[in-house]
Amino acid sequence: VFADVVQAPEDPILGVTVAYNKDPSPVKVNLGVGAYRTEEGKPLVLNVVRRAEQMLVNDGSRVKEYLPITGLADFNKLSAKLIFGVDSPAIQEKRVTTVQCLSGTGSLRVGAEFLARHYHQRTIYIPLPTWGNHPKVFALAGLFVKTYRYYDPATRGLNFQGLLEDLSAAPSGAIVLLHACAHNPTGVDPTFEQWEQIRQLMRSKTLLPFFDSAYQGFASGNLDADAQSVRLFVEDGGELLAAQSYAKNMGLYGERVGALSIVCKTADVATKVESQLKLVIRPMYSSPPIHGASIVATILKDREMYHEWTIELKAMADRIISMRHQLFEALRAKGTPGDWTHIIKQIGMFTFTGLNTEQVAFMTKEYHIYMTSDGRISMAGLSSKTIPHLADAIHEAITC
Ligand code: LMR
Repeated sequence: VFADVVQAPEDPILGVTVAYNKDPSPVKVNLGVGAYRTEEGKPLVLNVVRRAEQMLVNDGSRVKEYLPITGLADFNKLSAKLIFGVDSPAIQEKRVTTVQCLSGTGSLRVGAEFLARHYHQRTIYIPLPTWGNHPKVFALAGLFVKTYRYYDPATRGLNFQGLLEDLSAAPSGAIVLLHACAHNPTGVDPTFEQWEQIRQLMRSKTLLPFFDSAYQGFASGNLDADAQSVRLFVEDGGELLAAQSYAKNMGLYGERVGALSIVCKTADVATKVESQLKLVIRPMYSSPPIHGASIVATILKDREMYHEWTIELKAMADRIISMRHQLFEALRAKGTPGDWTHIIKQIGMFTFTGLNTEQVAFMTKEYHIYMTSDGRISMAGLSSKTIPHLADAIHEAITC
């Protein structure tokens, strides 16, 4: 009965790892998926995460019962504080409902399903370009996906004018997906002043912000600074959705731990919204997993562990920034044609190199360097040892 099923293509991002794993070359480098690696090219489990896990193991009273549909209560409260700020009036006024979800993707999906059922405007605007999974998540939830201009290939920076024009032309009430910081794939963020202009425009047109916050702490190394776009929109008293992921900032990729928060106008509305989120979640996966959320809650509620986390997080962010400088210098030293300053100007996990599909294919074939075909490289996958190899590959791809 399944004979007519056709072979599907690999995922444009996760498929890069599949191809990389099949390559026997000893010099291969995976710069596809956004996953942090150490200078030795190894995955990193944070010390503070290991400590939290040990504490959870030693705590003999812990059980493996089902969590409530909305997840671990402590985790939800602490996650809201992390993104909105400890003194957020919206939290104090109980206008925020937060539910534990399956990392960033699951949080986006639950939010999108809720909007498709309960929000009057089913069109969502996503930046062009954006994370490859965004359009699929929203379309499958029943939203109509449109794009707004974001990246300008000529400047390798923000097309702010295009962004404002497209959001001005969006129908009143439309949902707008915003990357809270460290835009994926471009590494290009609006300035604080530009965020303020975006906020004013969106509020004047009653456009509904849906923030994707997958890199809090990764852009600048500072958790508060990386949440300032979201907090700007909360401070004006308006509504919004925010999806949080702990994959990158706590290195909990495979634990699938994240949260969806919906900021409402009143506490009463927030209570009703939460009751409906439960109806979205229960038939999808019943309730979220306990382990990752327990790790996060253990770290966030302990002042000393929280501090240790911020230090480890900053070390990851700093290593990525150092990779940017080293790659930039390596290309400059080789005299590679072109202006490569965007490597040091862009922020977060990725550099949107400007390399085209053919150049990427060339680098994979000749140099065993794996990256997404749009020219995005994960800076977190680089090390001082692999930078010369990447610089050689880019140089030849550009000049041959
Ligand atoms: C990425 O963009 O590489 C990450 O967000 C991982 C993913 O799931 O695509």
